[in-house]
Amino acid sequence: MASRYHDVYAGWKSDPEAFWAEAARGIDWITAPRAVFDPEAGVYGRWFVDGVCNTCFNAVDRHVEGGRADQLALVYDSPITGAKKSFTYAQLKQEVVALAAVLRDQGVVKGDRVIIYMPMVPEAVFAMLACARLGAVHSVVFGGFAARELATRIDDARPKLIVSASCGIEPGRVVAYKPLLDGAIDMAKHKVESCVILQREQQECDLVAGRDIDMAEAVAAAKASGAEVECVAVSATDPLYVLYTSGTTGQPKGVVRDNGGHMVALKWSMWNEFGVEPGEAFWAASDVGWVVGHSYIVYAPLLHGCTSILFEGKPVGTPDAGTFWRVIAEHGVVAMFTAPTAFRAIKGQDSKGEFVRKHDLSKFRTLFLAGERADPETIKWAEAQLGVPVIDHWWQTETGHPISQNPIGLGQLPVKYGSPAVPMPGYDVRVLDDAGHPVPNGTLGNVVIKLPLPPGCLPTLWHADERFRKAYLSEFPGYYKTADAGLVDDDGYLFIMARTDDIINVAGHRLSTGGMEEVVAEHPDVAECAVIGIADPMKGQVPCGFVVLNAGVARDGAEIEQEVVALVRERIGPVAAFKSVVAVKRLPKTRSGKILRGTMQKIADRQDWAMPATIDDPAILDEITAALKGKGIGI
Ligand code: COA
Ligand code: AMP
Repeated sequence: MASRYHDVYAGWKSDPEAFWAEAARGIDWITAPRAVFDPEAGVYGRWFVDGVCNTCFNAVDRHVEGGRADQLALVYDSPITGAKKSFTYAQLKQEVVALAAVLRDQGVVKGDRVIIYMPMVPEAVFAMLACARLGAVHSVVFGGFAARELATRIDDARPKLIVSASCGIEPGRVVAYKPLLDGAIDMAKHKVESCVILQREQQECDLVAGRDIDMAEAVAAAKASGAEVECVAVSATDPLYVLYTSGTTGQPKGVVRDNGGHMVALKWSMWNEFGVEPGEAFWAASDVGWVVGHSYIVYAPLLHGCTSILFEGKPVGTPDAGTFWRVIAEHGVVAMFTAPTAFRAIKGQDSKGEFVRKHDLSKFRTLFLAGERADPETIKWAEAQLGVPVIDHWWQTETGHPISQNPIGLGQLPVKYGSPAVPMPGYDVRVLDDAGHPVPNGTLGNVVIKLPLPPGCLPTLWHADERFRKAYLSEFPGYYKTADAGLVDDDGYLFIMARTDDIINVAGHRLSTGGMEEVVAEHPDVAECAVIGIADPMKGQVPCGFVVLNAGVARDGAEIEQEVVALVRERIGPVAAFKSVVAVKRLPKTRSGKILRGTMQKIADRQDWAMPATIDDPAILDEITAALKGKGIGI
């Protein structure tokens, strides 16, 4: 059947407000918006300004009231602990109401921020929804970040309360969260009044008297008392959450998501883009600490009345490379979403797909890959093993939902390997040169989106309108800068090739090399440093640090390198995957003093490189090449 994509996209383009007004009918409003878009509001305009709603009501209560009370809403499958639990929509509501009562009793009200620092357990989802119910603003911090990163977020978000757990579980080790939480609270200038702590049996923790509350006890008490918590009415433009993402410095950007536009856009995406019907099981194998977890583990599937899978495990090693197929078969998953790195990990351990054939995948229809460029080899391998369409799609924390993809519900278009296909309605994607002029099709340039961004995208950064303008809107007036470089071909397909800033993508995780440089530079023996992302067959990219030691440092270089690695792990966290440091005599620079990171990366990745015309001293590149060879990198 012919795809409806071109008609639908053209329909949106000719009348965006009519398109989004129609999409807005997909959710239940307390007061339906009359104004679809107000160009005068906010930094670049706001969606559904006079709408009143509640996201938790739409994700939970309306399904309980509308005939899905006994349908599974959330299935927790944790091969890393051996635990499994399921919650119907009615049970989900009970858990969310009870936790909301606990938060309310701690004084959390509409507009307050709540940080959620949790592993992949159902209570993390309950906490997000409980905040949404109260009109409070959650900010989930990924468990792989260290105390200092958490402290930075505490100081920026200024939460009333933190929800956390005693531990997370990584293969072969229990990660004690409590010392990280306590350390962050000590470090932060903003003082947190209370913490609600989930004690996990794998490692319990001490609670701080007068500050920490045992989640299980408090929730049980709330249930026993029959506590009711109504959904609080919020404006469509009120913030639902703040999610911090890597910027170009160690100071992360607080991406703001509103309530109304977010619901409208995510609900629309579930069928039209992902081809999933209410009642079906959808699985995003990510983490609630990332945007994929927010949008496609929690909000979109629940807004759509699906069963969402919450998976606490890894694609390999928990217990083997067949885990994904077992989960799909056992829970009747029709569509799954993960990062290409997960498939490279599986392929590395089961290249013939022997595990795939041990499971009944007859219900499985589509695999979606995003978070980093999906290399054609990985897509073709997945297609061959699974026998279903494999859809690369491109988006960012900032947008909250796909900018471009091959839309399954609207009807799949021909596949072009290496391309996340075509822009979705809402996104007018252009490619501009550095001076802001459009480039011809097929020419690499800056990928930008014509303003306004569609509903669901960030309206601003948390309490930082000016930073938002500067980071995203000022370089190309009238456009949002994605900071991705790419091209559009003659058929309108996008190809996203690289970041134009210092962001690297490590195992589908977005990290700032600038942030890592700030930490490396803190080492007392380091005079100067540079961190670049180098190619890695499994993780896509991994960071590699170059350090110039202070004159007169007589200590063993290898020892200092180890200390630098440990420092980054301690300050940013294990998720930085920062394991390589190369001590060099000098860093290559332009005559104006800019470090030639791009050339260093090409040398490390064994790509062709040309001597930069502006280089100060060409001999330094030979020194870099030799130092990398000494470490077995780039040979
Ligand atoms: N809490 C604490 N530590 C964590 C963590 C968490 N939530 N998540 C990761 N880490 C640690 C890991 O244990 C690892 O520690 P180590 O250096 O001691 O081995 C380190 O952070 C790096 O993690 P990662 O880069 O994820 O590497 P990995 O070898 O553990 O796993 C993959 C590699 C590819 C299997 C895994 O990254 C993966 O499944 N990624 C794809 C899915 C995904 O999360 N995508 C995100 C957006 S869609
Ligand atoms: P994040 O904000 O963590 O989702 O990371 C967003 C960045 O990841 C984008 O700006 C891209 O650089 C990269 N990215 C995500 N999905 C894709 C994709 N399908 N193809 C290429 N790059 C991608």
